[in-house]
Amino acid sequence: MTVIIIVLNQKNLCYNINKILDVVLIINLAMILGITQYYKMEGNMKIRTFKVEQWMNDYENDAIYNLGETCIDSMTLGELIELSGQNPDKYLVSLKDKRMTYSHIYGSPELLDGIASLYKNIVPSQVIPAHGAVGANHQVIMSMIEPKDNMISVMPTYQQHYSIPESIGAEVRILQLTPENNFLPDLKLLKSLVDENTKMITINNPDNPTGSWITDDVMMGIVEIARSVNAYILSDEVYRGISEDGSYMTSIADIYEKGISVGSMSKIFSLAGLRMGWIVSRSEEVIEACRKRRDYDTISCGVLDDLFASMALANKEMIFERNRKILIKNREILDQWVNETPEVSYIKPVAGTTALVYYKKDMPSYDLCVRLIKEKGVLFTPGSCFEMEGSVRIGYAFDSMTLREGLDKFTEFLREI
Ligand SMILES: Cc1ncc(COP(=O)(O)O)c(C=O)c1O
Repeated sequence: MTVIIIVLNQKNLCYNINKILDVVLIINLAMILGITQYYKMEGNMKIRTFKVEQWMNDYENDAIYNLGETCIDSMTLGELIELSGQNPDKYLVSLKDKRMTYSHIYGSPELLDGIASLYKNIVPSQVIPAHGAVGANHQVIMSMIEPKDNMISVMPTYQQHYSIPESIGAEVRILQLTPENNFLPDLKLLKSLVDENTKMITINNPDNPTGSWITDDVMMGIVEIARSVNAYILSDEVYRGISEDGSYMTSIADIYEKGISVGSMSKIFSLAGLRMGWIVSRSEEVIEACRKRRDYDTISCGVLDDLFASMALANKEMIFERNRKILIKNREILDQWVNETPEVSYIKPVAGTTALVYYKKDMPSYDLCVRLIKEKGVLFTPGSCFEMEGSVRIGYAFDSMTLREGLDKFTEFLREI
């Protein structure tokens, strides 16, 4: 329904309007009435609270054992510079002459080359740097989704993927992942969810919080279903890149012409402080739409973020080697603890930095996590932040000692309550 509110003798003419014809009508009306300024009030600008981010904002600083963290043991700037073979003191002093301009609007050539090198079939012009993966996801969804569309999102996942399209007014259809299916998408269910109005299917691969990784055959099945309705696939791949044996992990951007991959410096590069993420796609439509919006919400990424991200990408093998060791060791610590603790169960994560652990206590996950941080200083993330009640998310990619001690404290807590 179109609602027109005209406030005479005031500067603004507010309207909520969908059709272009209506816009013309309003402008004509404004001109007749001599009103020169007007703006549009969006019909549906409400967005739900981002549960996991709110939880971290509220409790992260209270943690003694931070197992809410999802980044692999964050590096210092000095560590990164040293790893690149340079002297940190000299290098940092040399930065003082760097001019703080907007610099390369679309990202430096070094950055774009480095990001493209994470894929098999991507060239630098198909890369858009963004303000973290959070900025990249936001830009993709806001650029591509309209209220008339429907969008399929896996659950559990990062909340952006269902709450942003919902806030736009698009219909969101949930593709539930279950432990019975190792938290992998059920292709039959997906097929039943799509139709000709499905604009996008969004997945998180590896998945946060479950740590599942979609195998190539299942992924090809998803591509086939998307292709049958001409839908895009947005794959949030912030945890992609470090397999246990060092082998290549397939990206949606490499295998699907309408695939959109989102990546970031935060998790597998251990450099969340850079706030550098990216969008990658072979679809010109996507690149064009995101660039158009980017002028409004990003302009360019920070010069220093670009510089240090380029440095990390040029030395990615060394960083991955460092981080692979942490992941393998800590996954084993977690697995041993689960096997020795009858009060909990899980599907062992195969990738990423998190696991969804179910506990055998009759207590809502939010209440349990609040008591746990207050009584033992251990920070987990309630399963309710992912609509997965009866579970907690454990980030296990922090240092091994913190993980061991935090898990022991949790066992103690479970036996006390
Ligand atoms: C799946 C997923 N996507 C995106 C983000 C945001 O990452 P960034 O720090 O790059 O903005 C996170 C952070 O937790 C995440 O888990």
